[in-house]
Amino acid sequence: MREAEELLKILEGARDVFVLTGAGVSTPSGIPDFRGKGGLYERISPEVFCIEKFKQDPSFFYRQIGPMLKIILEAEPNPAHYLIAELERRGKVKLVATQNIDGLHQKAGSRKVVELHGSLEIAHCLSCGRSFSKEDYLQEALRGRVPRCSCGGVIKPDVVFFGEPLPSRALYEAIKAASSADLCLVMGSSLMVYPASSLPEYTLAHGGKLVIINLGETYLDPLAHRKFDVPVEKISREALRLLGAN
Ligand code: OAD
Repeated sequence: MREAEELLKILEGARDVFVLTGAGVSTPSGIPDFRGKGGLYERISPEVFCIEKFKQDPSFFYRQIGPMLKIILEAEPNPAHYLIAELERRGKVKLVATQNIDGLHQKAGSRKVVELHGSLEIAHCLSCGRSFSKEDYLQEALRGRVPRCSCGGVIKPDVVFFGEPLPSRALYEAIKAASSADLCLVMGSSLMVYPASSLPEYTLAHGGKLVIINLGETYLDPLAHRKFDVPVEKISREALRLLGAN
């Protein structure tokens, strides 16, 4: 694949790479994205991820999303995750900021990861604030039922819903890394959701390059040094092969 050679050439010329990923890096692992072809929003209203709706009727979220969490929990990383982890081992990638909650970057071996939209690992009771581990609340959630605290309050996983702020530490780390990077590599994101979508602009603002690998357009395509409209897993698989790391 010619594109993989080109990608590696661009990466060779970079010292400090900031990677921003979205749901498109995990579709090859079997997890549907939101706005891509066959994405979740073709079947489910985005309202399901609104915090106000969740507070009014948590069963709406758990009924629709609960059973799907099994796919996320059982998913395995794909070549896109492995390429990013390999580039970190080689000292190229300084940070990966992900909008995904599936933990697949860490499973693939990435260490420097910030989860902009949280994760399923921890949950909190909305009434008393008690925290719960995945094991404590996911059994109920997987059955499509509302997990509840002993105080009777509703348990909500620490994933960011529309209307909630991003975890400030994660956002701070991502802005810092994007601001000092000489290359921002976006993989598998429509760049439709702010503030994650604005992170590449920090790299561009101080003269760094932007490279996008995404099926479909993004608002930053016109500012990209190179846009690869190809499946992330294909270009990544080939890049890993060329690096001798597959
Ligand atoms: P989206 O679903 O908006 O975008 C995923 C992009 O990846 C789409 O443009 C797809 O075409 C593309 N894509 C899918 N599979 C691909 C593949 N194999 N190779 C290359 N590209 C592929 O997902 P995000 O940008 O991550 O937030 O969405 C951002 C946020 O919107 C999510 O974190 C979530 C959602 O609402 C909340 O729920 C708060």
